[in-house]
Amino acid sequence: MDYFSDKVVLITGGARGIGLATALLLGSRGAKVAVSDLLTEALSEAEELLGSSGIERLAVKSDVSRFEDCEDLVKQTLDRFGRLDVLINNAGVSVVANFDELKPEVAKKLYEVNLLGQVYMTLAALPALKSSRGHVIFLSSVGGIRTPPTSTLYGSSKAALRALAEALRLELKPFGVHVGVISPGFTTTDPRKTVMKGDGSPRPIARPPHDTPEGVARGIAKLIEKRKREIVLTPLGKLTCFLQRLSPSLLDRLLLGRELKN
Ligand code: NAI
Repeated sequence: MDYFSDKVVLITGGARGIGLATALLLGSRGAKVAVSDLLTEALSEAEELLGSSGIERLAVKSDVSRFEDCEDLVKQTLDRFGRLDVLINNAGVSVVANFDELKPEVAKKLYEVNLLGQVYMTLAALPALKSSRGHVIFLSSVGGIRTPPTSTLYGSSKAALRALAEALRLELKPFGVHVGVISPGFTTTDPRKTVMKGDGSPRPIARPPHDTPEGVARGIAKLIEKRKREIVLTPLGKLTCFLQRLSPSLLDRLLLGRELKN
């Protein structure tokens, strides 16, 4: 029997991109899937796609940065499916800007979604995950292993998730709950996706992808099934990890060289 058969999986930010690809993959392996998002239209398109793929699903408009929404989302999932086995903390936003261009309210928003949102969802889901001896998954990033210039807020939020997971993993060990972190590299994004400039206005994404949402989804499935601590994706991500341990100053020079070329 497939590991995901009849498992109940809750994915935040599941209307598109990596979240939707993960919902489709785990659903195709027998999971019942709840997806949440802020985007009403994309969410109903995602629900339709999951339904037409024969996946038992629930789609809920919900904001991870509001604790009441997180509690309600978990309640709706439990009301519908009766249990919760996997929480995938995927919802996230990004800012690309030099530090001195950042508006304080943009910094607040980023940490509220990328960090507090994952804390709130995990707090809301924990009693159910302890009952099922399930899994909590955090979407970090290669940018959380070594944060490049112009990614101070994004990278620090993703690095914080790795630290959070390290301690939480040990706290939850007696309850049989697995805590896993995945760090994707640059991944193809939905054409509708933008990142924020320092003032919060949208900025198109201009960088070559090294992975696909489906590739990241496979990584997430492996992280869960094998109860791994962390998976770092893409050859560049693995190299970054290695160089950061071996010689952070060499990585400084490589990153500065890249910035000068840009
Ligand atoms: P995406 O923007 O396509 O998907 C994220 C989803 O989260 C969106 O549908 C968005 O509406 C939703 N969302 C944003 N704020 C929310 C909130 N407050 N409450 C609920 N939902 C909210 O992004 P993508 O590329 O699929 O990324 C997914 C995750 O993977 C993010 O956490 C991202 O930081 C991380 N990641 C992405 C990489 C990439 O290159 N695409 C690389 C490394 C990590």
